[in-house]
Amino acid sequence: MDGSLGKLLAEANISLGRLDVMGYLLPNVEHIIAMYVQKEALLSSQIEGTQASMEDLFEYESNLPIKNIQDVEEVVNYIKALNHGLKRLEEFPMSIRLIKEVHHILLTDTRGREKTPGEFKRSQNWIGPAGSSLKNASFVPPPPSEALHAMGELELYMHKEENLPILIVAALIHNQFETIHPFLDGNGRLGRLLITFYLCWKKVMQKPLLYLSYYFKLHRQEYYDRLNLVREQGEYEQWIQFFLKGILWTSEDALRTIKKVLALADNHKKLLIQKKIASPMAIALLDHLFIKPHVSVQEITASLEISYTTAQPLINQFRDLDILREVTGLKRNRRFS
Ligand SMILES: Nc1ncnc2c1ncn2[C@@H]1O[C@H](COP(=O)(O)OP(=O)(O)O)[C@@H](O)[C@H]1O
Ligand SMILES: [Mg+2]
Repeated sequence: MDGSLGKLLAEANISLGRLDVMGYLLPNVEHIIAMYVQKEALLSSQIEGTQASMEDLFEYESNLPIKNIQDVEEVVNYIKALNHGLKRLEEFPMSIRLIKEVHHILLTDTRGREKTPGEFKRSQNWIGPAGSSLKNASFVPPPPSEALHAMGELELYMHKEENLPILIVAALIHNQFETIHPFLDGNGRLGRLLITFYLCWKKVMQKPLLYLSYYFKLHRQEYYDRLNLVREQGEYEQWIQFFLKGILWTSEDALRTIKKVLALADNHKKLLIQKKIASPMAIALLDHLFIKPHVSVQEITASLEISYTTAQPLINQFRDLDILREVTGLKRNRRFS
C-alpha cells in the first residue's frame, strides 16, 4: 500500500465515521434510511438497465396503475431483499445461506423468475453487451461446477480475522463476488448489497447509511474496467483505490444530503409558524411528508386519521406555501409531491 492509498484510506475512514455518528444522533434516522434504501434500490437496479423512477415507486406504493410494472417490481424486490438481509444479520452470520435467501427475494416474481432465484447457476453465464454470446463475451466467470466451492472460500474469507483494513476487505469481497458470478442473474445487485451487509455485520456502521450504487452508476465503465483489470493484470491496488474513493465520495454525499433534509424540515416548520398555521395537524402532515413525499388527499385522510374536510384545506395551504406541488395536472385524483 503506497502513501496515496494510505491517505485515501484514512480519509474514507474519517468520512464514514462521521456518517456513522449521524446514525446515532439523528432523531428520525429510520425515515432517512428508508429514503436511502429506496434511492439505492433504484440506482442499483438502473445500473443494468431497469427503467424506473422514484415517482414510479411512490405511485406503486399508492397502488396506482403503473406502465413499467416489471421494472418497478424489481426495485421493490431490491428494497425487500436489502431489508431482509439487514434484519437477518442481527442474529444470523454472513453466509452462503443468507446470500441465497436474499437472492431469492431479489428475483422472485420478476423477470428474474426463470433465472433460478435463490440457487446458484446450473448453466454457464457470461458478461457482455446485450446480445453477446459466450464467444464474444467480455468476461466468462467460472463454470457452474466451481461456483459452490468458490463461494465457500469467499464465505470463509468473510469470517477470517484479516489483517487488513476493513474497507479494503469489503472492496476485495465485492470484486471476488462479481468474479465468481455464482447466480445466473442478479449478481451485480447482490454484490452491491453485500457491501452494505458486510459493513453492517462488521459493525463498521451501526445503521445502514452507506450505499455505493450511485457512485458505480456515475462511473459505470470504469467500474467494469477495474473489475476486469484485477483478473487480467492483478491490478488490485487501482480497484481498491476506486472503491475507497467511492466510500469517501458517498459518505460525504450522504452527510450533505442528511444536512439538507434536516434544514428543509426546519425551514418548513419555521414557515408554518411564521404563517400562523403550525397546528398539530400541519406539523403531523409535514412529518408525514418526510416519510412519504408523494401523497393524495385521500391518503392523508387515512394516514393522519383526519376528515377530508380537514385534509383538503391543509394540503391547499401547503401548496400555496410551495411546500407541496400538484403533479398530475388533473382536476380529480390529484396528487401532490
Ligand atoms: N468485467 C466484469 N467482471 C466482473 N463483473 C462484472 C464485469 N462487468 C460487470 N460486472 C458486474 O456484473 C453485474 C451484472 O451481472 P448480472 O448478474 O446481470 O447482475 P444484475 O442482474 O444484478 O445486474 C454488473 O452490475 C457488475 O457488478
Ligand atoms: Mg442482469
